[in-house]
Amino acid sequence: MTPDQQREATVEAALGKLDLTAKVALLAGADMWSLPANEDIGLGRLVMSDGPAGVRGENWTPDDPSVSVPSPTALAAAWSPELAHRTGQLLAQEARRKGAHVVLAPTVNLHRSPRGGRHFEAYSEDPLLTGELGAAFVSGVQSGGVATTPKHFVANDSETDRFTVDVRVDDRTLRELYLAPFEAIVRKATPWGLMSAYNKVGGTFMTEHQELNNDVLRGEWGFDGMLVSDWTGARDTVRDALAGLDVAMPGPATVYGEHLVRAVREGLVPEETVDELARRVLRLAARVGLLEGAPAAVPSSELPAPIDGEALAREVAAAGMVLLANDGVLPLPDSVGSVAVIGQAAQEARIGGGGSAQVFPTHVVSPLEGLRSALPQGTAVAYAVGADPNVHLRPLAARTEARFLGRDGAELGTASLPDGAARWIGRLPHGLSFADLASVELGATLEPGRAGTHRLGIRGVGRFVLEADGAVVFDDAVLPEGEDPAAAFLNPPERVFELEVAEGAAPVSLRLRHVLPESGGFAGFGLVSFTLGHGEPVGTADEMLEEAVSTAAAADVAVVVVGTTEEVESEGVDRASLALPGRQDELVARIAAANPRTVVVVNAGAPVLMPWREQVAAVLLAWFPGQEAGAALADVLTGVREPGGRLPTTWPAAEADAPVWDVEPVDGRLDYAEGLFVGYRAWQRRDGVAPAYWFGHGLGYTAWTYEGLDVRLLPAQADGGGDDPYAAVAEAVVRLRNTGARAGREVVQLYLSPEGSDGPTGSDASRPRTALAGFAAVTAEPGEAAEARIPVPLRAFQTWTDGAWTDRPGSYRIQVGHSVADLPLTVTAEVPLRG
Ligand code: BGC
Repeated sequence: MTPDQQREATVEAALGKLDLTAKVALLAGADMWSLPANEDIGLGRLVMSDGPAGVRGENWTPDDPSVSVPSPTALAAAWSPELAHRTGQLLAQEARRKGAHVVLAPTVNLHRSPRGGRHFEAYSEDPLLTGELGAAFVSGVQSGGVATTPKHFVANDSETDRFTVDVRVDDRTLRELYLAPFEAIVRKATPWGLMSAYNKVGGTFMTEHQELNNDVLRGEWGFDGMLVSDWTGARDTVRDALAGLDVAMPGPATVYGEHLVRAVREGLVPEETVDELARRVLRLAARVGLLEGAPAAVPSSELPAPIDGEALAREVAAAGMVLLANDGVLPLPDSVGSVAVIGQAAQEARIGGGGSAQVFPTHVVSPLEGLRSALPQGTAVAYAVGADPNVHLRPLAARTEARFLGRDGAELGTASLPDGAARWIGRLPHGLSFADLASVELGATLEPGRAGTHRLGIRGVGRFVLEADGAVVFDDAVLPEGEDPAAAFLNPPERVFELEVAEGAAPVSLRLRHVLPESGGFAGFGLVSFTLGHGEPVGTADEMLEEAVSTAAAADVAVVVVGTTEEVESEGVDRASLALPGRQDELVARIAAANPRTVVVVNAGAPVLMPWREQVAAVLLAWFPGQEAGAALADVLTGVREPGGRLPTTWPAAEADAPVWDVEPVDGRLDYAEGLFVGYRAWQRRDGVAPAYWFGHGLGYTAWTYEGLDVRLLPAQADGGGDDPYAAVAEAVVRLRNTGARAGREVVQLYLSPEGSDGPTGSDASRPRTALAGFAAVTAEPGEAAEARIPVPLRAFQTWTDGAWTDRPGSYRIQVGHSVADLPLTVTAEVPLRG
């Protein structure tokens, strides 16, 4: 017997020992993150944990830290399946360290509108790039013996009304764009799990979608893993079970459990269906080594060698940084005498986006720290904040003692927190129960560094009592804003109070008591989430700007770090605008006027507008770069590493230009009326309107000349061999040369244009003018030639027509180059295919 057969046999034997109630028990969360153990069959407790930018584990608190890797847009910008694979291996290592068996990642929804609130968490506007990177990430995690759940299946491409929105999308668009990455990942990388989306597609909730779950995902693509709901996404016992939703999370209160047992007894759900669901849970458990007697998919002797998380986080961050423009100011020479570092984000970079992807690293290297330690000794580094775009106060930066209090006010336990942010989801420290908990009290000491007006803040929902040195500052209830139940912890309301502190004043003792709302928790699981915020006295906004301008004017080079904030880019909300928040645009424009050697670093996970982009010496996109932010940034700015990134998504110059903008459902429906024309596919049809930066764009520190392109058809497949849509039917051989002065890496991109698709008036206007069909990276020393070999899969020559994948033989323009808008070499080929 092969290990696979042995595993399947063990699963069947285990299943055979379970009665209906025991089988059903496997299908729902025991708590926020786990499925229950069953000792009778030797099944361990199965723990899931969020990705994709690190593995948080079962606690949502900084006292259980994780390696924080760059967010997916940064990883995608590296255009490197190899790095995605290694990042996956690191996350598997992190998962094992934290006792998790499933990493809830990767996010492979598409960048449909730049307003999507979770844009930072997905890879690209292009389905091929998304699928390639997603497959590499999945195989990386799973090679470490840990399962993945590509998510959110499918069409969860924006956040507005995400629990209810009904996405209307035609079949062809669904297949060619939104399902495509999932299909590629399932077929190429065999994920052991998959996460269903909250939304509806074509009128049916995705957890209840028999056609997409049972027929397409399992039937056509052969997915044999566990389909888990998004958290609280399972709503109907019978419809979910019949649509093949294996697991309802979180627990313990779900639509499965006793409800499912009853539905089977009443004949509404066949018991064989429950067997199928349970079988898939057991299979996943067996694969990760949690079912006694079943060989794990990866024997412990075959686990990858340990990975240095800090080093990899730094490598990925630099590899993903995209140099959008550079007049030669970068890399900074050793001789630079003085550097002005400006911006709130320079001191406190945003390392990741908000929401479930959040992890807490042991440390963060800020851009300011990174530059200070990387610049040659003797370089003067001055800092000014310039503009603070944060709307909310930061958590008080002081150790805070939390007391858990029962209904009678008695202390149930305590915990020590690194700052003023208190958050426990689904579980409390010391095994305390949410049922016994009535309030939580934070106590901290404010060391008043500066005299003046300090600000104290409360963020959260429920009743709060805030005292400073025994005097009551606030005692009232704070009600939720809006209707998204998750907003209570993703984006809660804030109250701010001023505290005057005199010169030389003694430390102030602060106490914030939070009485939990009666309804308690979120969707059935316990939740405590609130923040004691603090803001130092600051000058007026004008004073801050002036100070930054004079600091920049006095330096040889100004590095301005601008970015988005938690309010702008987070799960649960879409963006209202692409403009940088606060007065950051004004800050950049004024600094550029004061110093011609101004380098702007953009710390955002998704497109922002850069009205000043032609007035500055360089623009470097750092994305959300993870915990090693400043170290990687310094590597790139000083030229220790080249900025390796290429845009995985087109960046507009103005909001009005974005081909797809609206994310608000109308009467509950969100119509993907643009069809296939998303991202560069759409931009190419717009006469006279160009984006700020095209898909694929990014400068390194060297230059490349494309010298030759040959395309070879691979007759076996082209003539009709095999059914694998990812088998190569053609191979392009691209010769290029590094004509610059330093070693570098080039991402060679290959685009396919069917003849007749030149525009809306072409003979086949239904097909986009160009589509990415492959890519490969090369490296070369100065003057050296390199050769890239790029396979082009059958799928690139197919369309979804009349309910089936259909070969489209004919004449194709095959173009290669540096970005979708810079394609120096073209070959036209007759591609026969099967006809
Ligand atoms: C998110 C998922 C996440 C889950 C668990 C949901 O709100 O949409 O991506 O895995 O929560 O945190």
